[in-house]
Amino acid sequence: MRIGVRGKIFVVSVLLVLTVVAVSGAYLERVLRQWTQERIETELLNLAQMVRVMVEREGTVEPARIDPLADRVGDPKSGRVTVIDEGGQVIGDSNFDVPDLAGLESHRERPEVVAALAGGQGIARRYSMSLGTDMLYVALPFDGPGGRGIVRVARPLSEVEAAVGRLRLALMIAGAIGLVGAVVMSAFASHFLSRTLRSLVQDARQMAEGGEVRPLAIASQDEIGGLAGSINRLADELESTVATLAAERSRFEAVLESMDEAVIALDQHQHLTMVNRAAVALLSLSVGGGSTLRERIRIPALHELVERALDGQAGRGEFEIPEPTPRRIMAYASPLRNATGAVVVMHDVTEIRRLETIRRDFVANVSHELRTPVSIIRANAETLLDGALERPDIARRFLDAVLRNADRLAALVGDLLEISRIEAGTYELNSDAVQVAPIVERIVDSVENLAQDKKISVINEVAEGTVVWADPAALEQILLNLVDNAVKYTQEGGSIVVASRPAGEGTVRLEVRDNGPGIAAKHRTRIFERFYRVDPGRSREVGGTGLGLAIVKHLVEAMDGHVGVDAVAPRGSAFWLSLPSNG
Ligand SMILES: Nc1ncnc2c1ncn2[C@@H]1O[C@H](COP(=O)(O)OP(=O)(O)O)[C@@H](O)[C@H]1O
Ligand SMILES: [Mg+2]
Repeated sequence: MRIGVRGKIFVVSVLLVLTVVAVSGAYLERVLRQWTQERIETELLNLAQMVRVMVEREGTVEPARIDPLADRVGDPKSGRVTVIDEGGQVIGDSNFDVPDLAGLESHRERPEVVAALAGGQGIARRYSMSLGTDMLYVALPFDGPGGRGIVRVARPLSEVEAAVGRLRLALMIAGAIGLVGAVVMSAFASHFLSRTLRSLVQDARQMAEGGEVRPLAIASQDEIGGLAGSINRLADELESTVATLAAERSRFEAVLESMDEAVIALDQHQHLTMVNRAAVALLSLSVGGGSTLRERIRIPALHELVERALDGQAGRGEFEIPEPTPRRIMAYASPLRNATGAVVVMHDVTEIRRLETIRRDFVANVSHELRTPVSIIRANAETLLDGALERPDIARRFLDAVLRNADRLAALVGDLLEISRIEAGTYELNSDAVQVAPIVERIVDSVENLAQDKKISVINEVAEGTVVWADPAALEQILLNLVDNAVKYTQEGGSIVVASRPAGEGTVRLEVRDNGPGIAAKHRTRIFERFYRVDPGRSREVGGTGLGLAIVKHLVEAMDGHVGVDAVAPRGSAFWLSLPSNG
């Protein structure tokens, strides 16, 4: 059973009252008993002395004279008076008449009588069968002219018991009053105590439940006040600890949120306990929901990593995420050090892997592109050395091939150098306001021979005064590449137009149109890649390197422009570039 503070105070105060009443009662009773008995003793002694004087004055020991005397003095209240002669014979008694006296037994051996005879005064106390109570006897000797004897007075001690009884009653009443008082007072005390304690407990509980943390009222300087003070200090400490933890946590969250890497944490049941912003974006995840990682995303390689990490083994892996856009992810999963669970950090390596592939392909392509002209030169040189040199009619053909392929090698190496310079950022671009028309004019002149051979017309439609913000040399190289391609890939008798038009806020669009074979849609997106050709045989035939459009794209983008190709109806292509018209 649980006893509250109230109950305890009540029990203690009741016990206190009972103890005080019992102890003081026992003591008072003893004192009262002794005191009453002493008083009776004194009164009896006085009475006995008075009777002694009276008996001695009577001058005789005749019962007929002594007994009336005893009857006169003795009464139930002041005491029974008995006069005994020297032989122990009763000669007067307030309780008996003269005729009965002779029948009484000798009182010679009564202790008080014996003591009085021996020492002049005898006191005894003993139980009286006839009265059914304790009696106190006081005896004194007398020695009168009529004879000697003993005067004895006696009184029942029931008076003492009556006094004690009254005392007990008084004590009981006092005890009862005290008890009631104690009950009332303890009820009050415990009520106040438990009320302050209760409100203290309530406030402390409110604090613990994260409610408003306000200092508890310190109502008193006692232990309860001390307790309130302690709780306040505890609350302060708690508050500052919570604040520190919160700051720590928000710092930690800020770090996690600003990371580009996706981070997720899982408990031992594979429920997500933390997901940062990058992870939400990458995996479309959120914390909670009660389902496991496995139920949310189907990437077996990731689950395998997580399971191993939960078994305490860190690991690295790479896998594809098909949705929303296909991505290649590198993940590192490790067990949590101080708790059961795992944390997975994921990088998006899609771009890195793509660049790696491009680089690998590029190296393979370059090797391939270089090998072809080199082996042709080599084969022709060998043929010449093997004897063709002696026959001038065919020697020329072989030497021609050597020269053509050497040119091609030179063009390739030139373009490769160009592209690597642009990519390395060492190609210096000095943008300025450039007049476009004169540049196009120069380009038309430079392709004139080739165009005339193919009966192709090249028309400059760029409006006089068209200005773009560009590096003049780079712009010329761009347009030359586009016009050169158009002339090369357009059939005999075709026509090419270079035109310009404003295209929105501060932008000029330049266009090189032809009515050649055009480029199929599936190639259009890839045509600007290095070494990408629609028809490699034809490209080689016309002396192309497959790098022209890649250089164009690089240069245009280095000048903050855009480049693209559209189809032209009914046939042909339109290569366009947009450039800023002012810095
Ligand atoms: N005006 C055009 N008409 C049709 N096809 C073209 C045109 N310009 C470029 N192409 C195609 O684009 C490819 C890439 O061009 P480019 O990068 O200049 O390389 P190259 O001309 O050296 O082959 C060419 O091989 C050709 O197939
Ligand atoms: Mg080209």
